[in-house]
Amino acid sequence: MEEKVIMATKPTRSQIMQRKKRIDQLIRSAYSPDKDHLSEFPHFRHYNTPGLSLVLESGRGDKLSSNLKQYIQKLLKVNMEGPYGAEWPAEEKVKRREMSSSEALYIFVRNVEESVIGFVQYRFTIEEEIPVLYVYELQLEPTYQGKGVGKFLMQLVELIACKNCMGAVVLTVQKRNSSAINFYLNKLRYNISAISPSKVYQLIGVIGQEKSYEILCKTFDHEAKAVLEVICLLYFI
Ligand SMILES: CC(C)(COP(=O)(O)OP(=O)(O)OC[C@H]1O[C@@H](n2cnc3c(N)ncnc32)[C@H](O)[C@@H]1OP(=O)(O)O)[C@@H](O)C(=O)NCCC(=O)NCCS
Repeated sequence: MEEKVIMATKPTRSQIMQRKKRIDQLIRSAYSPDKDHLSEFPHFRHYNTPGLSLVLESGRGDKLSSNLKQYIQKLLKVNMEGPYGAEWPAEEKVKRREMSSSEALYIFVRNVEESVIGFVQYRFTIEEEIPVLYVYELQLEPTYQGKGVGKFLMQLVELIACKNCMGAVVLTVQKRNSSAINFYLNKLRYNISAISPSKVYQLIGVIGQEKSYEILCKTFDHEAKAVLEVICLLYFI
């Protein structure tokens, strides 16, 4: 990752306020209740490969049926208890809360029997003053992993992010989840973000401190790249 020293002119208060207003508008517009992000990409409604026929549908955290909530919790436990280890009981509670938030947006994947076999949960939010699509969960049942569905869902969320003028897709991954790290870094070309604890500790010279996760990102414009990818030492003149 690049390390840069940037000499910048300090923005005026009015410039800061205008920028904040523009970003808030982008987030509000992305959450507009009449917006169905999936319907804007009809080619992503179906995922068909030899022996696999799947249908995608969108959902919202505050509209989940109790069956769907139970399904999500069960799948999270199956896939994530291992990578989280001792942190799982606390993390499970956090995830249960996040699951039903009105800000949580979903794309569910169903098989030919119409059973859900996986999902991606995402939000539009702000990281370091950059509007981003944050992937909270990407979960597939074990028998449906390694068949291209994860890549397909990530391509879709990247398109949704760009369509809604987000600067990046951001996500958190457990360091112990080496197969997911390999999937994001090597297959989907994500980067460890400059805001990831490992990079921040490295920059400020903290030794011996470690977090169990990394923050990864894929950026779509120069500003997001400068803030989320490149480690900057910013000096105002
Ligand atoms: C991680 C996960 C979402 C990936 O989705 P997937 O559908 O299994 O992955 P895909 O089949 O789309 O794989 C895309 C590419 O990554 C590679 N890949 C996927 N999983 C891999 C693994 N475990 N080890 C090595 N390579 C892997 C595939 O070979 C494929 O490469 P290719 O494009 O060159 O053929 C899925 O395996 C999963 O649900 N895992 C459990 C939950 C989890 O860890 N989620 C991530 C939390 S941050």
